[in-house]
Formats: sequence, C-alpha cells, structure tokens
Amino acid sequence: MGNEKMYMELAEYYDASVSWKDYRAECTLVHTLIMKHKKSAGRDLLDIACGTGNHIKYLKKHYKITGIDKNAGILKIAGDKFPGIEFVSADMTSFDLKRTFDAVICLYASIAYARSHTNLIKVISNISNHLKKGGVTIIEPFMTKDEFVEGKPFATFVDEPNLKIARMNVNRRQTDVAILDFHFLVATGAGVKHFIDKHKVGLFDRQEIQHAMENSGLSTTFIESGFQKDRGLFLGVKQ
Ligand SMILES: C[S@@+](CC[C@H](N)C(=O)[O-])C[C@H]1O[C@@H](n2cnc3c(N)ncnc32)[C@H](O)[C@@H]1O
Repeated sequence: MGNEKMYMELAEYYDASVSWKDYRAECTLVHTLIMKHKKSAGRDLLDIACGTGNHIKYLKKHYKITGIDKNAGILKIAGDKFPGIEFVSADMTSFDLKRTFDAVICLYASIAYARSHTNLIKVISNISNHLKKGGVTIIEPFMTKDEFVEGKPFATFVDEPNLKIARMNVNRRQTDVAILDFHFLVATGAGVKHFIDKHKVGLFDRQEIQHAMENSGLSTTFIESGFQKDRGLFLGVKQ
C-alpha cells in the first residue's frame, strides 16, 4: 500500500483513521449475503487485503477465517489484535494458499490495488480458484472511471483526547490510474508529524469487474446498496 516503509509507520494510525466506518454494520450485511447465497456446506472464509482485521473482528464468530495482506506493518497489528486467526503475508495478484474457502471477501475498495486490467483479472481468477463450488465472494469496488473526479479535495479528521489526525488529499489521475497522495498531520503527546502516503489505484468500470468475475466462473450480481454511497457490492457464486 503506497510507500511500504512509510506505511509501516502509518499502520499504527490506520484504525483511528477509519473510525468513521461502521464495520459492525458492514459485517452484518456481509454475513446475511453469504448465508443467503452460499451453497457450500462449510464456514471457511478468506479475507483478501484484510488490513488490521476490522471485518474479522465481527465475522470471526461465524467463520473460520484466514486473512491475507501484503503490508507487513498492517499484518503485525492484525496478528496482535486477533492471535487465534491465521494471517498470511501475500499479494492478491499472485497468492496460492492451496486450499479453497466457502466465502472470499475483498472489501473497502482493496481490489483497486490491482491497478491494471491485467492484474484485476489475476486477482479475480485467484478469488475464484480459492472458492469451493457454491462458495460466495463479495467484492466492494472503488470509484468507477466516470465517478472519479480529478481535482476534488477530501479530508477526514480524528479528534481523540490524545490523538489528532487530519488526512487530506486532492484527487489526481493518469488515464485509468487514480493518484491518491494522502497528507497526514498526526499530533500525539510526542509532537506533530507530517507524512505523505502515496497510493496508485486502478479505476475500473462495473462491467469490467463483472465480466472478469463471469469469465472466472462466478455467477455475478451487482448490489447497488452497499456500505458506502454509490459504491455497491459485487456478489459472485462459484459455479
Ligand atoms: C483500504 S485498505 C482495506 C483494509 C481492510 N480490508 C479494511 O476494510 O479495513 C487496503 C488494504 O489492501 C492492502 N493491499 C494493497 N495492495 C495489496 C496487494 N497487492 N495484495 C494484498 N493486499 C494489498 C493494503 O496493505 C491495505 O491493508
């Protein structure tokens, strides 16, 4: 994710910076969808690009979970938070766990880190290859090519008694790649630090993702009302 070395330092602020997200509600919807569509018998779940395990926190009572992520700093935090869970350091474009799952999730726009169409197909093929027949995948996409508006400023703020974070960025793009340079101002008792966390993520059309899923043997539907306004969710069932 972005500059790996810098993100190691930022990893400790990840949870604070996503405190606005309602992971509990997201997991209620994820679990409901999986239970409604899953035809395989088991409860093995793979969380791709699991981050610090914020979905795992609410899903672990329902599933036996494996989480993968490619960022070592992030995975260390996940492992410390959830000692009973299996975490694997792996790249979603190339991983092979040599086993299959009843559910595979890839949430909070993490699929966009595939960055190119070629890698998108690899990630979706990997997801399909890790699903049992009748298993379910839920993928939460990033903004589409049309939705991403260059020059739009964004800001989030954390205001805890001993931690203040201002995270700002202005959207830029190079053709179908979004350039997200997040400027962090982080104030703790030790002082104020400034970081720039640089991300390059792919802008994919809905049809592009849907076709890749269908071509990988996943019967796919797009659910308009997902977690975030206008993002939706892709739901695929392994044929
Ligand atoms: C926006 S965060 C989402 C984390 C988590 N799913 C959540 O909802 O909080 C994106 C995550 O994708 C991970 N990531 C980025 N590129 C990746 C790749 N190629 N393979 C695996 N993980 C990746 C990052 O390290 C980061 O933890």
